[in-house]
Amino acid sequence: MNSVAVVGAGNVGITLGLLLKKKGYEIAGIISRTEESAQRGAQMIGTKGYTGYFPVLEKANVIFITTPDRVIQETCDRIAGEGGFKKGDLVLHTSGSHSSEILSSARDSGAYILSVHPLQTIPGPEAGVRNLPGSYFAVEGDREGLPFARRMITDLGGNPLEIPTEMKPLYHASACVVSNYFVAIIRLGLSMMEQLGIPKESALKAQLPLIRGALQNIETVGVPQGLTGPISRGDYSTISDHFTVMREEMPGIVSLYSELGKYTVKVALEKGSIDKQQMEQLLKVLEV
Ligand SMILES: NC(=O)c1ccc[n+]([C@@H]2O[C@H](COP(=O)([O-])OP(=O)(O)OC[C@H]3O[C@@H](n4cnc5c(N)ncnc54)[C@H](OP(=O)(O)O)[C@@H]3O)[C@@H](O)[C@H]2O)c1
Repeated sequence: MNSVAVVGAGNVGITLGLLLKKKGYEIAGIISRTEESAQRGAQMIGTKGYTGYFPVLEKANVIFITTPDRVIQETCDRIAGEGGFKKGDLVLHTSGSHSSEILSSARDSGAYILSVHPLQTIPGPEAGVRNLPGSYFAVEGDREGLPFARRMITDLGGNPLEIPTEMKPLYHASACVVSNYFVAIIRLGLSMMEQLGIPKESALKAQLPLIRGALQNIETVGVPQGLTGPISRGDYSTISDHFTVMREEMPGIVSLYSELGKYTVKVALEKGSIDKQQMEQLLKVLEV
């Protein structure tokens, strides 16, 4: 029987405690820096709240460190320093940007270490309980801990995505591209609309159906098949017209438009909607 302790009574820690308890896992307790957070988390989950590591870590054999990223390593080191980990314990963090290696002080105490990152946004425990089932979880770390991670993710209604430890930063960069850069690219599109005199709010309203349509396309036919537009059709003269007006109106975005365009040419080639000759014509126009 696994007995779970959560260190860090925040959005993810409370969500995991709630969902795991619902699935029949024993929650030994929740530990936080402040008494207030510990008691709030404990009340929500229906367990005990602590600000110290003992006695809860004596009982637990699965320890989630769900503090902010910047203090995961120091929290793990402090627990290890106080003798809080036992041989065979599983110690996990849920950060997307760090690998399990930041928990190496727990491994030095005989524990197995893992990172289990929910590829999902958890703005609060209520949303977390709603959003986590069906989500993907990136997992890496000690081989011995993987069967537990797979089982736990499946119990949470999620899907495990195993990644190599040394590639964790690339995994995180990929998540940044599809979520954060997506927002930045939409901001760029809105600035272009603003340049032609449409206020940002109206521009967003006008673009949202297009954004939804593009997402729906991706969902229905996938990538690269979801690509549409002038590059996908090989319309190089249209791209040339874009540059003419952009050089005049917004010279600062020409090189970014060019780089994104060149990548889009690769996607169109992968889709099979342009041939090698069209690719070369497009790349010539996109060279700035
Ligand atoms: N939220 C998301 O969307 C999301 C998604 C995927 C992964 N993650 C990852 O999940 C982890 C937790 O994120 P979160 O959003 O749950 O953060 P959060 O809501 O800020 O919760 C972190 C909690 O840790 C506690 N804490 C801070 N320092 C501590 C310490 N030294 N010892 C014990 N507890 C401490 C804080 O409570 P006190 O009041 O006691 O200080 C805080 O409530 C992070 O690694 C994050 O990258 C988050």
